[in-house]
Amino acid sequence: MTTPDLFASDDAPAKRLAELRQTLHTWAHQYYVLDQPSVPDAEYDRLFKELQALEASHPGLLTADSPTQRVGGKPLDGFAQVRHAVPMLSIRTETDTTPAGAENFDTRIRRELGLGEDQPAVQYMAEPKFDGLAMNLRYHHGVLVQAATRGDGEVGEDVTQNIRTIGQIPLRLPADAPPVLEVRGEVYMRRDDFDALNERQRRKIAAGAKGEKTFVNPRNAAAGAVRQLDPAIAAQRPLSFFAYGLGEVTSAAQGGPDWDSHQALLASLKIWSFPVCDLSQKAQGASELVAFYAGIAAQRDTLAYDIDGVVYKVDSLALQRRLGFVTREPRWAVAHKFPAQEMLTSVLAIDVQVGRTGKLTPVAKLAPVFVGGVTVTNATLHNEDEARRKDVRVGDTVIVRRAGDVIPEVVSVLPDKRVGNPEPFTMPRVCPVCGSAAVREEDEADFRCTGGLFCSAQRKQAILHFAQRRAVEVEGLGDKLVDQLVDVGIVRTLPDLYRLGLTALANLPRMADKSAQNIVDALQKSKQTTLPRFLFGLGIRHVGEATAKELARHFGKLDAVMDASAEQLLAVADVGPIVAQSIHTFFAQPHNREVVEQLRACGVSWPEGEPAPVAAQPLSGKTLVLTGTLPTLGREEAKALIEAAGGKVAGSVSKKTSFVVAGAEAGSKLDKACDLGVPVIDEAALKQLIEAGT
Ligand code: IVH
Repeated sequence: MTTPDLFASDDAPAKRLAELRQTLHTWAHQYYVLDQPSVPDAEYDRLFKELQALEASHPGLLTADSPTQRVGGKPLDGFAQVRHAVPMLSIRTETDTTPAGAENFDTRIRRELGLGEDQPAVQYMAEPKFDGLAMNLRYHHGVLVQAATRGDGEVGEDVTQNIRTIGQIPLRLPADAPPVLEVRGEVYMRRDDFDALNERQRRKIAAGAKGEKTFVNPRNAAAGAVRQLDPAIAAQRPLSFFAYGLGEVTSAAQGGPDWDSHQALLASLKIWSFPVCDLSQKAQGASELVAFYAGIAAQRDTLAYDIDGVVYKVDSLALQRRLGFVTREPRWAVAHKFPAQEMLTSVLAIDVQVGRTGKLTPVAKLAPVFVGGVTVTNATLHNEDEARRKDVRVGDTVIVRRAGDVIPEVVSVLPDKRVGNPEPFTMPRVCPVCGSAAVREEDEADFRCTGGLFCSAQRKQAILHFAQRRAVEVEGLGDKLVDQLVDVGIVRTLPDLYRLGLTALANLPRMADKSAQNIVDALQKSKQTTLPRFLFGLGIRHVGEATAKELARHFGKLDAVMDASAEQLLAVADVGPIVAQSIHTFFAQPHNREVVEQLRACGVSWPEGEPAPVAAQPLSGKTLVLTGTLPTLGREEAKALIEAAGGKVAGSVSKKTSFVVAGAEAGSKLDKACDLGVPVIDEAALKQLIEAGT
């Protein structure tokens, strides 16, 4: 793992300290004041740690204005300042993303509490670490009187007006709330709200609006909204809130609440109608902390909001008091981070890869970097427009992002780090593999190689597609072997695979006799297949597994599919005009029919069936998109209902969507439907549609 060395480290400590402070000041200003960070958090943290370490080893060089000496950002001009009754502390961060991160915390707590090995497990509360901004909500006799940001921990900004626009935050509490109550928690923006906001921003910018910008991530959008000087604008930026702690509260001695645990106080907050995250839970000892960490990490990408780790807190408030604080951090809590999803690295080259259908994709070759839990060396730039919009050039320092199983992406370039004047990226006008013309069709973002199966890259991809597990499955036929077979020239077409003899295979470099035999056996085995697998394996553009299944069900026999007109194909449940045309064109090509005949002649076969009777169903040929929470149907139930009525459920809205079914808190999909003029219906109307048609 390498990170580009932005700074030489061999300078004298004083010089390095000054450099680090200057850089961190700049970054902190961009992050906290401008809400527009220029580097990933992980990069900020890395330099921050270096500064801390350097200051620790040279205490004489510590200055009061060092970034290490403040908790958060500085209050913004334009908001009144608020001195917190109880300082808003920071929390110790554990960056070891293995179970050791949780175990270390438990070990430390047990040691500080003087617990021996035979004594019972400590009770913790484990919560997600929300990626938003900390807020202190002050209530007097149940009325929200002030909302303040953390600021530097001592003094924050009074953002009451903006916070009042957050529907989830109660403005008035029930009568049993204490006379003075400060609730602390995180203001954040849901991902769907963020997407919708950015979409609106893009439209404003496209319409020529001045001074508008898009936001880098939900946290910055949330911070921007909270610190928007005009509450009317803030109100248009949908924010959410989770409560997770307290500031000043009337003491028990003066009639205030007498909670004994963090869990109990969260329960009271919930009763007083503060949103409390339902993923927060009790955990006993290190093993349950570890399990919580893994469980939340697994859900991370499916949550409606961003989190960057979890927080463990000693549950007993008496034990919290006993543990106390070190400088500005409580000893009883720790933040256990997840692997960073964004990191800095540098672009070594920009390659152009050729896909199965000839699509050319620019790919940034990166200096290896550990991001999102794996080492990444390639990141897609999607297409020429994207590569140019981001203006990625060879040698650039870039932010790479990898979230979940999504392919790694270059988010942006750090323009200040560009050295010299490298050439902007342009898509080659010929295929980099076969030299055929590369063309970009009208209305398409992609360039395609026109070489078809003349192009060895497309041939290789076509063979791999055919041999994959979800198609006819030839076990052991991976990309290395396909490269060899195609490069040596012994496989040019799919049927050539079945003509491979044991000797030809065994003669390949680095091929053991045993492996050659395994491939021969796997090829033999793959000959018994099914019609859907075979159809999918042919690699017809736009024909995925689901469409292949529908085609097989509808027509029963391959010949019927091959001879179908575009109109006849349109009658298939999964098939629209573009797909119908693609299938028809594929089988109209003599060389494709030839491939099919030869495969059959080589012994590839499948059981054929009878065409399915086409019963007209109420939602046949219709595609629906679900958004928001429906009043009675769960998402899976609604999906099953639609599918049973012959309809399909898609994940995103396009011009082809027949209906959007919207429930409560519908997000960006609803906006998109309105934009595209797609009809929007509710649950009741959905049920009517289905009943009317049956
Ligand atoms: S407790 C004294 N719980 O993480 C402990 N903080 O430095 C106070 N955060 O910016 C914090 N989720 O806004 C706590 N479940 C959670 C949290 C959480 C996010 C943020 C907090 C602060 C940072 C801690």
